[in-house]
Amino acid sequence: MNGPRRKRLKRQLESTIIHFDYDCFYASVFEREQPRLKALPLAVQQKQIVVTCNYEARRRGLYKLQLITEAKKVCPDVVIVLGEDLTRFRNASKQLYGFLSSFSWNSRCERLGFDEVWLDVSDLVDNNVTTLNLSNLSNSFFRLSKHDPTVGFQFDATNYAGPVYPETPNETQAVTISHGLLHFRLLLASHLAQHIRQKLEYDLGYTATVGVSTNKLLSKLVGNLHKPNSQTTLIPPYTADHDEWDNVTPFIDDHEVGKIPGIGLKIAQKLRRHVLQRPADFNAGLVYGGTKEDVRVRDVRTYPDMGPDVLERILGGPGTLHGIGTRVWDLLNGSDDTAVSQAREVPRQISIEDSYIRLDTIDEVVKQLRVLAISLLRRIRTDLVEDGQEPTEDSAATSRPITQRWLAHPKTLRLSTRPRPPQNPDGSRNRSFARISRSAPMPNFIFSLKESIETLADRLIRETLIPLFKQLHPEKQGWNLSLVNLAATNMVEGASEKGGAGRDIGKMFSRQDDVLAPFRVRDGPAQGDMKHVAEEQHMAGEHAEQLQIRAKPHQYEPKFSTSRFGSEDVPTPSQEYDTDIDIDDTREEDNDMLDADTYRCDECGAVMPLFAMGAHERWHIQN
Ligand code: TTP
Ligand code: MG
Repeated sequence: MNGPRRKRLKRQLESTIIHFDYDCFYASVFEREQPRLKALPLAVQQKQIVVTCNYEARRRGLYKLQLITEAKKVCPDVVIVLGEDLTRFRNASKQLYGFLSSFSWNSRCERLGFDEVWLDVSDLVDNNVTTLNLSNLSNSFFRLSKHDPTVGFQFDATNYAGPVYPETPNETQAVTISHGLLHFRLLLASHLAQHIRQKLEYDLGYTATVGVSTNKLLSKLVGNLHKPNSQTTLIPPYTADHDEWDNVTPFIDDHEVGKIPGIGLKIAQKLRRHVLQRPADFNAGLVYGGTKEDVRVRDVRTYPDMGPDVLERILGGPGTLHGIGTRVWDLLNGSDDTAVSQAREVPRQISIEDSYIRLDTIDEVVKQLRVLAISLLRRIRTDLVEDGQEPTEDSAATSRPITQRWLAHPKTLRLSTRPRPPQNPDGSRNRSFARISRSAPMPNFIFSLKESIETLADRLIRETLIPLFKQLHPEKQGWNLSLVNLAATNMVEGASEKGGAGRDIGKMFSRQDDVLAPFRVRDGPAQGDMKHVAEEQHMAGEHAEQLQIRAKPHQYEPKFSTSRFGSEDVPTPSQEYDTDIDIDDTREEDNDMLDADTYRCDECGAVMPLFAMGAHERWHIQN
C-alpha cells in the first residue's frame, strides 16, 4: 500500500456511512399498492424490457433488463405491470427519503437515483459511542434523538448486527473495549442500520439491502454481499498500519473494475485494455458494460508501475480533468473522500424530455411541446408546492384551512432541442449529440394554483415556448429533431419561516439533479399523459419509444466530473436572459449511454439504445 493512499483512507475513518438500496424497487412499489402481488412472480415492463422483477420472479429465472418475450418463455405465469410512468416511483422514493433522512442529525442524506440513499451517521454514532456503558455492553441503549434521551432502542454492543465482511463466525465477532474506536463505530452503525431497516419494513412496507462502512464507495459496495433484505458491515482493520493485513484491500481487489462506483464504462474499458493489452471482449445481451473478461481491481492495482501517474496518462486526455489518475487510484484502493451531500429542500432544476425518431413539422412540435409542458408543470407543482395548514388559535387541526405554499420559484424556462445532422450524399448521417437551447424568464402566470395545468400549458406554449422555438429554428422546415427538453431552472427558494436544510425533513428533496446527472433515469410522461402520448405517438407514427435502461447505479462518474452540471447553482444574468444559441450547454446526461438514440431491431422489433444494438445483434447470431 503506498503512503498517500494510506493517509487518505485514514482520514476517512472518522466517518460512518450507511448505504441503502431498496430491493427490486419498482416491483416493490407495485407490491405495496397490491399486496397480493408479493406471492407472485412480478416483472415491471418498460417498452419491451423487464426493468426489474421481484425476487419470486428472480427465483424462477427472470432478471433485470431481460426481454419481455424471453421472460414470458422462462416463466409463463409471470405477472407483468407497466412501469413507464415514473410518478409512483418518484413519489415512493420521496417518501422513503423523507423517512431515512429523519434519522439524520447532520442532514447529510444523499439520494442516488430513485432507490439508493447514503446516510452519514457519523455524529449520531459518535455520540452513542461516547455514552456506552463499557461495563455492561450487552445491555446498551442507542439514542436516536439529540433532545430526548428516552427515544431509541436497546441493543447488544458486544456483537455486530447482521452479516459482516470478512465473514466471521458469530462468537469470534464479539467486540470488546480493546478493539478500538473504529470497531465500535461500525458496530453501533450496524445496529442502527438494522433498526432502520426493520422500521422501513414495518412502517412503510419496503425492504432494503444495506452496507455499513466509512465512506460512500465502500458502504455501497459492501451492501451487495447479502441481498435482498439484509445488510453487511465491512469490519476493521481498514489499514495495515499496525496489523499485518487490512480488510479493505482484499474486499475491493475482488471486484471487476467496471463494478467500482465512479469507474464508468469508458474508464473501465481503458483500464481493461491496459491490463490485457487489447480491448476486452463484451458479453452479448442488453446489460450495458457487461464484459466477458473479468479484469479485477487487483489486476489493475498490481500491474507493473501502476499508480496515479500511470492512470493519469492512460485515462487523461482532452475532455478529462486533471486529477483523474489520483481519483481512480484512490477508488481502486477503497478510498473515497466525497462527502454525503446535505439534504436539499428543493431540486436545483426540473427538466422533462423525450426523444423522437422523426419530429420535423411545426404542428408535431406544438403537440409534443404540449405533452412536455403538461408534464413539466405537473412536476413543478408536485415538487415545489407544499401543503400546509393555517395556524389558528384552535388546536383542532381538522378545522384549519389547508394552504399551499411555493417552496421555490424557477426563474428561467429553457427549451433545448437536438437536431439530427443532415444526411451525407451517400445517405449516411454523422452522429451528433449536440443540443442547442434558448432560455427566457419563466412567466409568472404558471405559479397560479387556481388554473388547470392544461390551461397553463396552452398559454405557456403560445406566449413563451413557440417564440423560443422560432428563435432556435427560424426556418419553417428542413430540420428534424431527435430530442426536445424543457427545463425550469434558476431555482430561487421562497422565503420560509422555518430556516435552512435540516428542517421539515419529510418534505425534503435530495440533490437528485446533480447526483443523478451522469446516470439519470430519463423522465417518462406523468401518469395522466400516457394515453395522450400514445395518441400522439400514433399520429406521429415514428415517435421514438424511449427506453429507460440506465447506467447501473454503481457507475457514477468521479465526483469532479459532476461539476459541469452544477452551473445552475449560481445563476448569472446571461443564464437568466440568455438569447444566444448555446451549443451543447444542456447536457445533463453527458454520458454516451444516456445520450444514445433509441433503435429498433429489424429482426425481433425490440427497441433499445444504440449502445445495446451491437450486443443485441450478437445475441441473435448466437441464438
Ligand atoms: P436497481 O437497484 O438496479 O434494481 P432493483 O432495486 O429493482 O433490484 P435490486 O433488488 O437488485 O436492487 O434499480 C432500481 C430501479 O431502477 C429498478 O427497480 C428499476 C429501475 N431501473 C431502470 O429504470 N433502468 C435500469 O436499467 C435498471 C437496471 C433499473
Ligand atoms: Mg435496488
